[in-house]
Amino acid sequence: PRRILSGIQASGALHLGNYLGALKRFTALQDTGAPLFVFVADMHAITVWQEPEKLAAQTREIAAAYLAAGLDPAKAVIFPQSAVPAHAELAWIFNCVARLGWLDRMTQFKEKSGKHKERSSVGLYTYPVLQAADILLYKATEVPVGEDQKQHLELTRDIAAKFNNDFGAPGFFPQPEPLIQGPGTRVMSLRDGSAKMSKSDPSDLSRINLTDDADTIAAKIKKAKSDMDVLPDTVEGLDGRPEAKNLVAIYAALSDTTREAVLAEFGGQGFGAFKPKLAELAVTSMAPVTAEMRRLMADPAEIDRALAVGAERAREVAQPVVDEVKKIVGFWQG
Ligand code: TYM
Repeated sequence: PRRILSGIQASGALHLGNYLGALKRFTALQDTGAPLFVFVADMHAITVWQEPEKLAAQTREIAAAYLAAGLDPAKAVIFPQSAVPAHAELAWIFNCVARLGWLDRMTQFKEKSGKHKERSSVGLYTYPVLQAADILLYKATEVPVGEDQKQHLELTRDIAAKFNNDFGAPGFFPQPEPLIQGPGTRVMSLRDGSAKMSKSDPSDLSRINLTDDADTIAAKIKKAKSDMDVLPDTVEGLDGRPEAKNLVAIYAALSDTTREAVLAEFGGQGFGAFKPKLAELAVTSMAPVTAEMRRLMADPAEIDRALAVGAERAREVAQPVVDEVKKIVGFWQG
């Protein structure tokens, strides 16, 4: 059976990349008939230091973004990862299945640990193993994510295959498919078309935050780096023009169309004409989401209700799976 699952870290400010690469896609998958599990990865967030007095608010903020983007708690199971203990239990077992050599190849750890690998938390290193547990605990078959999560999905598939093989449980865990589709899977910085849009970029002008108001969104797009040329008529014409490519991709993703269709409309026009249109589109599509997020966060009761209901349902699905895994591994059964 199909099951769709994804998550976003509870580590502060969401940006346009998270919105187009993940959030917007989750909402689009809500009515496909397959159960949808969407969680807030607070256990992943603490792989780097998080202020304890802020963490719960950050969790609520991601949950608010889910609801504001259109997820319906009556349809999707929305929950905090730490409210389902089975994530941690399965992660431990997977730590004993995954090989050091596999984790040594993970590029995200290399990026995030930087020059000080020995001072990183052990959790940051084993982060992708917890992600595999998140996915396989629900026997998810489809995982909508941005391009940067591709390697973690490959590791998840390797862990599933090795578990099934080592414990003689063929087909116990499925091979989940990453859903990395459309023009919004790798949104780049507005200041540098060769760098990913990310919350760790020191320049706030590099990204559009989901908390930015309409004027800020429009101003950031108008200041975005571009070039002097007109837009080409074909996607190939964007090669070697990373900033132009990125702005066209953002337009396409926001308007649910393709880069080809955007160029059919704007080919031959310069950024003086294109940027105001893009700014207008960004404001009209994002402003309602950011406004709804602000409304929800003003009184967290509605968010907390949704998370409590989701956590309960997630535990009901996860517990029998982890119970069976413990039996397969050979743990004592009382
Ligand atoms: P996180 O919290 O870093 O990012 C959340 C989602 O946003 C996508 N994303 C982007 N998409 C397009 N362009 C960008 N510039 C951009 N930046 C981020 C990410 O690909 C992601 O889909 N490890 C995950 C969270 C996680 C998870 C999981 C996901 C934990 N367990 C299980 C799926 C399944 C992460 O760090 O996402």
